[in-house]
Amino acid sequence: MKNRMYTLSIAVLGCLVGSASFLQAQANPAPHLEKRGSTTQLIVDGKPFLILGGELHNSSSSSLDYMKPLWPKLIAAGLNTVITPLSWELVEPAEGRYDFALVDGLLAQAREANEHIVFLWLASWKNGMSSYAPVWVKQDTRRFPRVVENGAEVEILSPAAAATQEADARAFAALMQHIRQADATQHTVLMMQVENEVGVLGDSRDHAASANRAFNGPVPAELIAYLKAHRDSLYPDMRARWETAGAKTSGTWSEVFGDSTRTDEIFMAWNYGRFVQAVTAKGKAAYDIPMYVNTWLGGEDTPPGEFPSGGPEPWVVDVWKAAGSAIDLYSPDLYAADFANWCIRYHRDGNPLFMPETRGGEAGAANVFYALGEHAGFGFSPFAIEDEANAKTDLAASYRAIAAITPQLTSAQAAGLAHGFVLTKDHPTVEFTLSSYTLRVTLDEIFGYHAENGYGLILATGKDEFLGLGKGFRVWFIPRSTDGPKAGIAAIDEGVFLDGKWQPGRRLNGDENDQGKGWRFDPRQISTEKVTLYHYE
Ligand code: DGJ
Repeated sequence: MKNRMYTLSIAVLGCLVGSASFLQAQANPAPHLEKRGSTTQLIVDGKPFLILGGELHNSSSSSLDYMKPLWPKLIAAGLNTVITPLSWELVEPAEGRYDFALVDGLLAQAREANEHIVFLWLASWKNGMSSYAPVWVKQDTRRFPRVVENGAEVEILSPAAAATQEADARAFAALMQHIRQADATQHTVLMMQVENEVGVLGDSRDHAASANRAFNGPVPAELIAYLKAHRDSLYPDMRARWETAGAKTSGTWSEVFGDSTRTDEIFMAWNYGRFVQAVTAKGKAAYDIPMYVNTWLGGEDTPPGEFPSGGPEPWVVDVWKAAGSAIDLYSPDLYAADFANWCIRYHRDGNPLFMPETRGGEAGAANVFYALGEHAGFGFSPFAIEDEANAKTDLAASYRAIAAITPQLTSAQAAGLAHGFVLTKDHPTVEFTLSSYTLRVTLDEIFGYHAENGYGLILATGKDEFLGLGKGFRVWFIPRSTDGPKAGIAAIDEGVFLDGKWQPGRRLNGDENDQGKGWRFDPRQISTEKVTLYHYE
C-alpha cells in the first residue's frame, strides 16, 4: 500500500513537473525563425539572436574529455554558440539502441560555459561519403544500397533507398525527442544541421540500375508544378535550363532539363532533397527548432561530381524546395574567395543567410561584418574554431563588438537600415544609401597608420544619426537631394550600450575625425561610434 501511495505521488509529481515544464515551454517557445520586417531572424527566448559561432573539428565533440578544456578557449574567442558535430553511429550504435550520454554531456558542458549549441547530424552523409553511418548500416548493402559509379558500388548510401531514409529519420526523430525533453525549457540547442555536405562525389549521378530507370522515367509532377508556380522567382540558371529545353511540363529528365551533367545534378538534387526533407520533417515532428542543410560549394564551371552532385548549390535550391518544405534554410560552407557573391546567391528568395562553415582568422574577423551588416545574416561560424581560439586572431574582437550592439543591429536588419562592408586595396570604396544620405566609405589612414584593409557596419539610428562599428575606414555623407541644404558633422562620440542605453565616452570632433571633415575609424582597433549630422544652406 505504502509502495502504491509512493508510486502514485511520484506519478502526480511527474505530471506536475511535466505540466510545469509544458507551461514554461508554452510561455517561452523554442528557438524559431520569424519574419521581421524585410528579414527572417532567429528568435531565442523572445529576442532576435545572432549566432557568433564557430564549428569544431569533426571529431572533437565525440569525446567529453577532449572537449572539457576547450570550452574556456571558445568563450575567450568571443563565441556564443558552438557548432557541434554529433554522429548517427554514436547515437545508435546498434539498431534501435540509442545512447544519448554524449548529447547530455555536451549539453551540460555547454550550459556550464554559458554557450549555445547547433548540432550537426552527421548521419547518412558527411562530405558526400557515408563514413558516419553506423556499421550495422554500412555492412548491410542489400537493405541500405549504395550509389553505383562506373559499374561498382561506392561508400555512398543511395538517397533513393526508402529503408535508409526511414532508418536515418527514426534515429533523428529519437534524437530530437531526447533534445526536446532535455532542453525544451533551456534552449541551449538553437538549431540542427541535417547531414553534412550531401551529394554524389566522383560522378555526376548515381548509375545504379534503379537510378537509371528513374532517370529515364518522367520528371515527378511535384517538381514540374513547382517550376510552373515559381517561374518568376526561380534561380536564373535553373529557369534558363528549363526554358532553353522548351519549358516542358512533362518528359524525362533529359527532355525537361537538357542533355548535360547539370541535369544529372538536378536529378540528384531531387533525390537528396526528398530524403533530407523527409528526415527533417520527422525530426521536426519530435521537436520543432530551425533546421538547415549545408553545402560544399561548387561552381558553374566545375563539373558536378567534383563537388557533391545534388547538394543544395544555389542553382538547385529550387529543386530541394520542390521536394519538401521541412528544411528552413540552405547554407553555404563559404571558403571561396568570392565571399560577397556567394552571400548574394544564398540571401535570396526568402532564404536567410547563415554560414555554418567559413574562413576564420583575419578574413573571418572582417567578413562577419559584411554577412551580418549587408545581408542581414543571423549567424557566422568559422570552421576549426578550436585552432582559431588558440591562434587568438581578431575574430574575438569582431564578435565582442557585434555582440555589444545585437539589439540595435537586429532592429536595423529588420528595418533595412544596416549596411556592412569589407575594404581592401583592390576594393577600397563602397557606396550605399541610408536615410536621406549616400554614404561613401573608403579605406583610411590616420595618425600615420595606413589601413591596408578596413571593415565595419553602419546603422541608421535616426534621420540624421548613425551608429558605426569597425576599423580602418572613413565615411563621407552626401545628401541625396542635390538642391537641399548641405550636411555637416554636428558631433561624433565613441561609446557603449549599457542595458540598451547609449553611454557616450569621448567626444571626437578633433584630429580623430579631421576636424569634422569625415567620420573616421582608427585602423588599429575596432571602435563603436555615433555621429549626428546638421544642415546648413
Ligand atoms: C567541410 C566539411 O563540411 C567539414 O566537416 C570539414 O571536413 C571541412 N570541410 C574541412 O575543411
